[in-house]
Amino acid sequence: MLGGRLLHGGDYNPDQWLAYPEVFEEDLRLMKEANVNSVSLGIFAWASLEPEEGRYELDWLDHIITRLGGEDIQVVLATPSGAMPHWLTQKYPEVMQVQADGKKNLPGKRHNFCYTSPVMREKTAAIDRELSRRFGKRKNAILWHISNELGGNFGDSTCHCELCQKAFREWLKEKYGTLDNLNRAWWNHFWSHTYTDWEQIHSPGPLGEMTSTALVVDWRRFSTNQISDFCEMEIRAVREESDLPATTNFMDFFKGLDYNRLKKGLDVISWDSYPFWHEQRDEVPVAVRTAANHSVMRALKKAPFLLMESTPSSISWRNNNPLKRPGMHMLSSMQAIAHGSDSVQYFQWRKGRGGYEKFHGAVLDHKNGSNTRTFREVSEVGARLEALSKNVEGTVNRPKAAIIFDWENWWALEDTQGPRLDLDYVECVLSHYRAFWEKGIEADLINMDADLTGYQVVSAPLNYMYKSGYEDRVRKFVSDGGVFVTTFFSGMVNETDLCFTEHHPLEDVFGIVPEEIDAPTEDFENYFVYEGTRYPARKMCEIVHAKKGTEVLSVYERDFYAGAPAVIQNAYGDGAAYYLAAESDDLFLRTFYDTVFKKADLKNALGTELPYGVTVTERTGVDGDRGIVFVMNFRNEPVCVEGTGEWTDTESGEVYKGKLELEPFECLVLK
Ligand code: GAL
Repeated sequence: MLGGRLLHGGDYNPDQWLAYPEVFEEDLRLMKEANVNSVSLGIFAWASLEPEEGRYELDWLDHIITRLGGEDIQVVLATPSGAMPHWLTQKYPEVMQVQADGKKNLPGKRHNFCYTSPVMREKTAAIDRELSRRFGKRKNAILWHISNELGGNFGDSTCHCELCQKAFREWLKEKYGTLDNLNRAWWNHFWSHTYTDWEQIHSPGPLGEMTSTALVVDWRRFSTNQISDFCEMEIRAVREESDLPATTNFMDFFKGLDYNRLKKGLDVISWDSYPFWHEQRDEVPVAVRTAANHSVMRALKKAPFLLMESTPSSISWRNNNPLKRPGMHMLSSMQAIAHGSDSVQYFQWRKGRGGYEKFHGAVLDHKNGSNTRTFREVSEVGARLEALSKNVEGTVNRPKAAIIFDWENWWALEDTQGPRLDLDYVECVLSHYRAFWEKGIEADLINMDADLTGYQVVSAPLNYMYKSGYEDRVRKFVSDGGVFVTTFFSGMVNETDLCFTEHHPLEDVFGIVPEEIDAPTEDFENYFVYEGTRYPARKMCEIVHAKKGTEVLSVYERDFYAGAPAVIQNAYGDGAAYYLAAESDDLFLRTFYDTVFKKADLKNALGTELPYGVTVTERTGVDGDRGIVFVMNFRNEPVCVEGTGEWTDTESGEVYKGKLELEPFECLVLK
């Protein structure tokens, strides 16, 4: 556990208050009162740290780090490349990003530099080295926070300048060797798109080529690589003088970057979570999405991650920015811990008086000091985490189920033409994840390259692309006794979006021969009956034939494919494979996954049915010992979970027999 305890604190941006030293004194006092034990420093402070090229002013930060150390507050040291100082963009305009339509950005905003630019890399490495030399060995420094939300925030996450075009061509040369190989892999003889010179290749953009999915997917791979390379360059720079581990903060289902690539250079995964709580009265969809995000982060390294940012009250960038209702701040913080976080950190400690984010929630508001509801709720979270630390130390979630969530599949699936243009990969993955969440069955969200051993159930919704080696891993997983689920429009193309010919790559495992895919409009209702209940078949209806010996669990009711299989089960080796030919709804998935979990003999940590809005997770030690169970109620009303056996509350010591009663938005931590 980093820093030896659950971290509680967040982004601290004192560079806004350097002219007001009394503010820092008040901050220090109130941080103790709020049970803050760690802050991230200097994230956007480049202009204060290096006011002009090569002139470093680090004394103010030194003073702050030292004083924080005196109060037993640990620091996460940030590199400041997330926002460029004006002297940099003025003197070296090439550091500014060029957009996909060829327009060059003007100075300002943040997260908008060119990741290829040698000048940007040189200037970033220089300030990073300086920071590392001065602070990299401080006793209260625990982690490097590289840049901020790489690839993110305003608009396109990539740069299309000439330097990037050149680097892209080099990357392609390395990957394909010859233009012939590339032309074949991208199917360029269609529409006369054959390249005869590497210089003819250009990044995708609205004024040029957007019709080649293979090009777009490779561009995204290249951009991921370029940004990861920039991040690794920064890590090397800080490492020259410091051994601290490094992270960079990830975002909520961020399509722009494949985090499975970016994770490689990092020691710790961290992410920024801003769920839309109270978007509607039913909090379940938001709880599910947030849990799924936590599961992506935990699964990246199969290790605890850090919640690097969250809001203690509201955000400021949605059309409606509801305040967290009483109890929600505690519950959402506990949800992070329950899914494997070792921290609850905020953006930010104190609201700025001006600037873009002055109304974004913070621990300290513009007025009233510690006398606010937010401050009190934050202090309570801090006190609870402090008490929980010793139980949580050395534990992490080790789910027996996984869902395939793969960035390259995401890119290819949503960029390709047909059978529907509104396919939403994340929405589909979440609809499956929700069935797991509602049953209290935890799942890792892993990509296609991940090792499947150790899981009992793996589900792969909308698994359009099969990456090389994947089908063999799935085949082995099922034949060794695993239960595997997939859906319509899976196993269609290889890594460069070339369709598989002859047969579906896992035809033997699923026991089917897929033939056509219908994408009906709402007027063409169809249905199928599963375990006595009739469910809709809508949007995507694949027409497949069952092979001899394959079990057809349900068939389409209508249209020219009435009687064709809609839900299929096939025994393969020691395991079983399910193919959902039809897209349906949440009610169907809930019932269907009951079948799957029974088949795999998978139960939640409480071993009982959960009422709506309640879920369960478990963190254990390396050997599966010292299990602690988190029971969370996302309903704003009391609930009772029946049939639970005997549990001890790790916090109050109370013993519960046979049932658990939860208050609105309550989280219990049990042994
Ligand atoms: C994050 C970002 C923070 C802050 C926060 C609230 O995306 O990393 O710097 O902007 O959002 O809007």
